Amino acid sequence: MKCVVTGGAGFIGSNLVDRLLSEGNEVVVVDNFSSGKKENCNKNATYFDIDLSNTEKQSAIKDAIKSSEVIFHCAALARVQPSIINPIKYEVNNTLGTINILKCAVDMKVRRIVYSASSSAYGPTKKLPSKESDIANPVSPYANQKYYGELCCKMFSNIYSLETVSLRYFNVFGERQNLGGAYATVVGIFIDQLLSNQQLTINGDGKQRRDFTYVKDVVSANILASKSSLVGKGEIINIGSGKNISINTLAKSLGGSRKYLNPVNEPFANLADIKKAKKLLDWEPTLDILDWINDYKLLNGIK
Ligand SMILES: NC(=O)c1ccc[n+]([C@@H]2O[C@H](COP(=O)([O-])OP(=O)(O)OC[C@H]3O[C@@H](n4cnc5c(N)ncnc54)[C@H](O)[C@@H]3O)[C@@H](O)[C@H]2O)c1
Repeated sequence: MKCVVTGGAGFIGSNLVDRLLSEGNEVVVVDNFSSGKKENCNKNATYFDIDLSNTEKQSAIKDAIKSSEVIFHCAALARVQPSIINPIKYEVNNTLGTINILKCAVDMKVRRIVYSASSSAYGPTKKLPSKESDIANPVSPYANQKYYGELCCKMFSNIYSLETVSLRYFNVFGERQNLGGAYATVVGIFIDQLLSNQQLTINGDGKQRRDFTYVKDVVSANILASKSSLVGKGEIINIGSGKNISINTLAKSLGGSRKYLNPVNEPFANLADIKKAKKLLDWEPTLDILDWINDYKLLNGIK
């Protein structure tokens, strides 16, 4: 099968590219390398350096995706906090990027789009675990844009008969996660601090809890979602571990000393209900974050 991974030079996208190639698929990547990295690129994939939010570039995008069966739309400016600082840049990039690839996919008769959605759509909620039927409450620019992308996918399925499915990821960790800069997540930041002998910095009291999901499990969910005959009409599916741990527990599992900073505006806890993923995709998580951290420490000689 020929497939396209947008954002295929990024953390999740590049793991997906490797897996698709290993399964014998032809893989095309569309990425503008805004946060993607050359070192994540696989020599067996074909790369197109295109900004998906540029609607003037439709013919280049169509050229890249022609005769592909599935598009995995991972491209986005990810992360909540930088979107609060830069709402317009994020809006243009994330909303136009999504509608542009959806329109090009229709024009090029692509069968299905698997969209990387986000658990941030749930916002701050005390009702946990979060189910896909819960009312969305996105409270940041990034969360709004990711949620709007889900609505666009469903609308394109309804109006243009393009098969779509949205996977709401919960805090993804694993190989190639960003260790520094604006795009790093808490696991990457802690590892970076540990490797450079700094204190692990915790926002607030560290009692906030997160559902962490292994990147290779996210990749498997994408592949199952590209094939399942039970989806294709804009379904929303949680991809999480179904368990959550506190940031303090995460920091303790890594070791080293900790420094507590002022709290930031973030949900107190998140936790995925993953029954729908099992039912529609036959997907289940395979690796727990604390086991991954143990392995990571062993591999890197960290005590
Ligand atoms: N990492 C997580 O915990 C997480 C959680 C929920 C959802 N997601 C979603 O998963 C997807 C992948 O996230 P990631 O963590 O791998 O992020 P990432 O920043 O590592 O990868 C995103 C990729 O998209 C590319 N990109 C961004 N804007 C683009 C544009 N306009 N045109 C072309 N390419 C563009 C970047 O260069 C990068 O390679 C994103 O859509 C993100 O919103 C991630």
